[in-house]
Amino acid sequence: MLDTEQYGDQLFSHAHPAETARLEALAQALDPGTFHRLEQLPLREDARCLEVGSGLGTVGEWLVRRLPAGHVVAADRDPVHLRARGVPGLEVRRFDVTADEFPEESFDLIHARWLLSHLPARQEVLERMARRLAPGGWLVIEDPVRFPLETSPEQPYRKVSLAMCDAVERRIGTDSRWARTLPELLSAAGLTDVHGDTRTSRVGRTPMGRFWRLSAEQLSADLRQDFGVAPDELAAFSHQVTAADFTAPGLATVTAVGRRV
Ligand SMILES: C[S@@+](CC[C@H](N)C(=O)[O-])C[C@H]1O[C@@H](n2cnc3c(N)ncnc32)[C@H](O)[C@@H]1O
Repeated sequence: MLDTEQYGDQLFSHAHPAETARLEALAQALDPGTFHRLEQLPLREDARCLEVGSGLGTVGEWLVRRLPAGHVVAADRDPVHLRARGVPGLEVRRFDVTADEFPEESFDLIHARWLLSHLPARQEVLERMARRLAPGGWLVIEDPVRFPLETSPEQPYRKVSLAMCDAVERRIGTDSRWARTLPELLSAAGLTDVHGDTRTSRVGRTPMGRFWRLSAEQLSADLRQDFGVAPDELAAFSHQVTAADFTAPGLATVTAVGRRV
């Protein structure tokens, strides 16, 4: 698996002209749920936090505001967007979670959203994250799962959406089923007080609809060549997922929370 393409090498590269808009749409779709979940945690004002695979850094920025006496590190394999936004108080690090040593320090909170399912070494990375928690520290992992797409009666929405999941798996090894059992995986990593929930963002004229359309555009050659998606089907899908008169569940996000003893 190591010599295959990884997230960001080509597919979803931060250098792609539409990648900022795609990450913005994703953050808009998911931030309210993430902030609500993080707000429930009993974090001290001076908590040390690590946000891994932070993309635009919206979660790190929120943590800086929420914990003014804390220390927040936002780390990404390609932190170009984080640096460009220059959030005061947010420490930015270039960090490949599959290849680099984890930061030396321990953290009271480690959060990663829509990262691990993209990494073939996801289980090992999850366990390494759990080990970097300070005693009593929290791990919050959020990842997408495909089941709402599998049951959709809408076409071409279902066909193209499932082909997208398969295409991303073939290109970079993303597993869009793995997170179904995230709470159990956190327990297996030795964490306690484990709980979780699942939320679904809808497509249509919504941030998730925009995200899904922009993702399909980056995958259009794969969809056509390897998954039998015809150009007119892709055009109909692109219209459908951003149309004001269309609504359907998109990928679900499973959130799992656990604490180090
Ligand atoms: C789908 S985006 C999610 C961004 C953000 N977490 C969010 O939910 O809005 C995945 C992010 O993980 C980063 N990433 C991918 N592989 C990584 C790795 N091996 N180490 C660190 N970051 C990585 C990407 O650069 C990208 O910013």
